[in-house]
Amino acid sequence: MHTTPVALLLIATLAACQGKPPSADAITGGDPRRGLDAIQRYGCGACHRIDGVPGAYGKVGPTLQNIGERGYVAGKLPNTPENLQTWIRFPQRISPQSAMPDLGVGEIDARDIAAYLYHQ
Ligand code: HEC
Repeated sequence: MHTTPVALLLIATLAACQGKPPSADAITGGDPRRGLDAIQRYGCGACHRIDGVPGAYGKVGPTLQNIGERGYVAGKLPNTPENLQTWIRFPQRISPQSAMPDLGVGEIDARDIAAYLYHQ
């Protein structure tokens, strides 16, 4: 069988790709640099501590450091890129008692913010 080494090489290459953790950009489709801008524009730092965001030392909400390691978003939604974006856009829909207001975050902004938060 002359094709075997080629097939093995292909399998090895595929395995190598799958073993690498996907980047935040790949998971969310967002741009973390634009996310940083959006976080500052919406003033998330008034209520949250966020790594790498100047002045983001708010203590009204939980720190957003290591959000990627948390199992749930706001203790409500399983932590997936989609759910994180839904929370950022419509927290009051998910948790009407929450102190986090709907800030009118657009779809693209939410994607970029999620990319930034998973990126830290
Ligand atoms: C007025 C204060 C306030 C502002 C402004 C605010 N948040 Fe929040 N946020 C909260 C509070 C309070 C919670 C906790 C909500 C809960 O658990 O019900 C929260 C929860 C969260 C969570 C879930 C955290 C976790 O540990 O599961 C994320 C993510 C989040 N906010 C992102 C953002 C982003 C992004 C912005 C800006 C677009 C923002 N927040 C603006 C108050 C705020």
